[in-house]
Amino acid sequence: MTKLAVVGGGNGFIGRALAKQLQKSGYKALSVSRKPGENTLTWKSIETEGLPKNTEVVINLTGEPVLNVFKRWTPNFKQEVWDSRIKTTKTLRTAVLAADTPPKVWATVSGVGFYPPSTSRIYDELSVPESTDFWSELTHAWENSGRIKNENTRHFVVRSGVVLGKNGGAMSEMLPPFKLGLGGPMGDGKQWFPWIHIDDIAGIFMHGVKNTSVRGVLNGVAPEAHTNGEFSKALGSVLSRPALLPLPSFVVKALYGSERSVMLLQGQNVYPKLTLDSGYVYSYPKLDAALKEVTSR
Ligand SMILES: NC(=O)c1ccc[n+]([C@@H]2O[C@H](COP(=O)([O-])OP(=O)(O)OC[C@H]3O[C@@H](n4cnc5c(N)ncnc54)[C@H](OP(=O)(O)O)[C@@H]3O)[C@@H](O)[C@H]2O)c1
Repeated sequence: MTKLAVVGGGNGFIGRALAKQLQKSGYKALSVSRKPGENTLTWKSIETEGLPKNTEVVINLTGEPVLNVFKRWTPNFKQEVWDSRIKTTKTLRTAVLAADTPPKVWATVSGVGFYPPSTSRIYDELSVPESTDFWSELTHAWENSGRIKNENTRHFVVRSGVVLGKNGGAMSEMLPPFKLGLGGPMGDGKQWFPWIHIDDIAGIFMHGVKNTSVRGVLNGVAPEAHTNGEFSKALGSVLSRPALLPLPSFVVKALYGSERSVMLLQGQNVYPKLTLDSGYVYSYPKLDAALKEVTSR
């Protein structure tokens, strides 16, 4: 019998990469989406009918994109950012708990915004920071909305850094100015820039699916930490373009609003201690190799 994996937001940037890895491991991947389609379930069908029979793996990767410069940072948009993550996680959690045959694995994504920005602290999964801003409140609530205490279903959360890949995510915003030689650091460039290659974020989810000892939280970041300034320099270098034009803080704040621009102008030094301890082997542990792959044709 085919093993079924149900992935909320499975048609998105990370979801598409994860679906490939799930298929390689013998799973049929079904997305949960707002729109019906091939190999796709709707949120309505999950609410009314629950999970398909024989679902072994359930993962939620849903979320309204935060850094859409065309969407103003209004109370309504903030609510959409919140609800698209927390309501969908609650819907899948309810379906997992209601399933006649409990899925083996239930996993959710969250972000490194869980850790308060700092230039000096190094965070790992065992750090216990308090909520200090919208981003940490959101990630705490997001993670909590998925938690289960159920012996039959194993649960884990992946706290992702900025995902670098082709055809989507942050690189689709960053590459055009860098290719024109108009790229550079954001603000003073001293803020940490926790990053991960798309194959590794999907790989960490697969690692968690396959390894029965994985529970709790795994940081979804590369082991090598860089500042935003170092990242800009490395990207300019692989493209053979200068990366000397900083985007001043006041411009970032004017474009994104001051609360949202914290994501760009401040950062966290995050180390994937439990990801490494649990045996995950990175395909792209080094920034240069990751950027070369992402910028290659
Ligand atoms: N990419 C990153 O660098 C990164 C870093 C840290 C955390 N994350 C988190 O990881 C998750 C997946 O990231 P991604 O880059 O793959 O995201 P994505 O492609 O932008 O979006 C994933 C899916 O979310 C659904 N969605 C978007 N807006 C929605 C809304 N308002 N209500 C309900 N569903 C909505 C869409 O599915 P349908 O259109 O099919 O409904 C979309 O395909 C997100 O929660 C994101 O916050 C991503």
